[in-house]
Amino acid sequence: MKNVVVVGSQWGDEGKGKIVDWLSSLADVVVRFQGGHNAGHTLVIDGKTYKLKLLPSGIVRKDKISVIGNGVVVDPWALLEEINSIEKLGVTVNSDNLILSESATLILPFHKEMDEIREDTAGKAKIGTTRRGIGPAYEDKVGRRSIRVMDLRSENNLNQRLDTVLMHHNAIRKGLGKKVYEKNKLKNELMMIADKVLKFAKPTWKILDNYKNLGKKILFEGAQGILLDVDHGTYPFVTSSNTVAASASIGSGCGPDSLGYILGITKAYTTRVGEGPFPTELTNDIGALLGRRGNEFGTVTNRQRRCGWFDSVLVKQTCKISGINGIALTKLDVLDELEEIKICIQYELNGKKIDYFPTAVEDQIKVKPVYKTLKGWKTSTKGLRENEKLPQNAQRYIKEIEGLIGVKIASISTSPEREDTILIENPFDN
Ligand code: GDP
Ligand code: IMO
Ligand code: MG
Repeated sequence: MKNVVVVGSQWGDEGKGKIVDWLSSLADVVVRFQGGHNAGHTLVIDGKTYKLKLLPSGIVRKDKISVIGNGVVVDPWALLEEINSIEKLGVTVNSDNLILSESATLILPFHKEMDEIREDTAGKAKIGTTRRGIGPAYEDKVGRRSIRVMDLRSENNLNQRLDTVLMHHNAIRKGLGKKVYEKNKLKNELMMIADKVLKFAKPTWKILDNYKNLGKKILFEGAQGILLDVDHGTYPFVTSSNTVAASASIGSGCGPDSLGYILGITKAYTTRVGEGPFPTELTNDIGALLGRRGNEFGTVTNRQRRCGWFDSVLVKQTCKISGINGIALTKLDVLDELEEIKICIQYELNGKKIDYFPTAVEDQIKVKPVYKTLKGWKTSTKGLRENEKLPQNAQRYIKEIEGLIGVKIASISTSPEREDTILIENPFDN
C-alpha cells in the first residue's frame, strides 16, 4: 500500500476535510504540509460538525497520529485555541497524537496586522485574503528572518530573532505611518505560551521517516487549491504557498518517492472566495441556488463564496500541473434540482478557441467559457452510497467530466456526512 496526498483541484473548499477524515480510517498518520489557519476543513460525523483550521483532519480519530509539518505557518495562539475548542467537543489532543514541526514558521500578530494594512490600502487591487497573516509570514520565511517554533526554546535567541524581524517590519510600518511594533510585550507573551507549544515540537521529518520504516501509511492533507498556488494559480490572486501535491514532500521532509497516489478533491461545480478571475461564475439565480444548496459560506471568514459551473478546462490543467491520479468528486447532491447543467469545455479569447487557462490575469478575466449542456436528474442523490443507485443523468454527468479531464473519478461524495461517499477506487490500493 502506498501513501496518499490529498489536494484541492480548484480554488479551495472542495471538501478536502470530509475526504481526508473518511480516508484516514485507512491511514496511520495524517500530515498537513502547507498553509495555515487560512484553511477551514469541515468534518461531519454522525451529525456532529468539526471545523479544523490548523489541525490535521485525522485528529478526530483515536489512534491516528497528526503531524503539522515544517511547511505550515503556525499562529501559536490560534493553534492553542483550536486545540482547546476541539477538546471541548470530546477529541483528545496530546503530545502523543499531535506532533508539530520544530522548524515551522510562526505567524505573529504583526503579520496579521501587515495583512490587514495591505488589504485595507489596496483598494480595487485587494486580494481578499483571509487576513490571518499568511502572506507576510511566508515572506519572512523566505526572507530568512522568521521566528520558528524552536526559537521559543530560548529567550535570548527569541530576543535576537525578534530584533531582526521587527527591524524589517517597523521600517515598513513607519513608512506607512503606522505605530512601531513593541518587542518586549510580544516577547513576554510568547514566553508565556512557549511551553504549551513546545510540548508538541519535534523533528517531524525524523518521526515520519520512522513511520515509513515501520510500513505505516501516511495521508498528506493539502490546504487551499491548485488555482490558489503561488506559482500555478491565478497570480496575484493566490495564497502564498505552493498548494500542488509536490509541496507535500518539501513541507513534511519526506522525499518525493514517499508521496504515492495523488487524489484531487473536486467539487461538482466551482466556487471561489476572495477576489480574482472566475470564468464560469454565475451571478444569477442559478449561482444563488448553488450557494444556498451547497451552503457556500467560508469556514474561516464566513464570506459568501462565489459559485459557477464546473470548469473542465481548469480542472484538466490542475490535474496535469499537480500530477493527479484520481478525483474525489464532491457535492454532487447540490446539483440535484437543476433542469440543465453546463460544463465549460473550452474558452474563447479574442475570437479564438483555446483549451487552456491563459497565464496573464488580463486574459484570464477576458476568456469566455464555451459550454456543453447536459440534462439534470431532478431527483435526490443526497446520502447515496452506491454508484448503481445514482440516476442515469448523474452518471452521464460524471462520465462526461471524467472524459473531459482525462482522470478517473475514484470516489463520489453525496452529503457532508463522513460515510455518505461512494468508493470506486481505493487510493491506498493503487
Ligand atoms: P475544504 O476546505 O476543502 O475542507 O472544504 P470546506 O470544509 O471548507 O467546504 C466544503 C463544505 O461542503 C463543507 O461545509 C462540507 O461539510 C460540505 N461538503 C463536503 N462534501 C459534501 C457533499 O458531498 N455534499 C454536500 N452537500 N456538502 C458537502
Ligand atoms: P481551504 O483549505 C478557499 C483564499 C483567500 C484569498 C486567497 C489569499 O479551506 O480550502 P490568504 O489568506 O491565504 O493570503 O488568502 O486565498 N484562500 C482560500 N480560499 N479555501 C481556502 O482554504 C483558502 N485559503 C485561502 O480567500 O482569495
Ligand atoms: Mg475550506
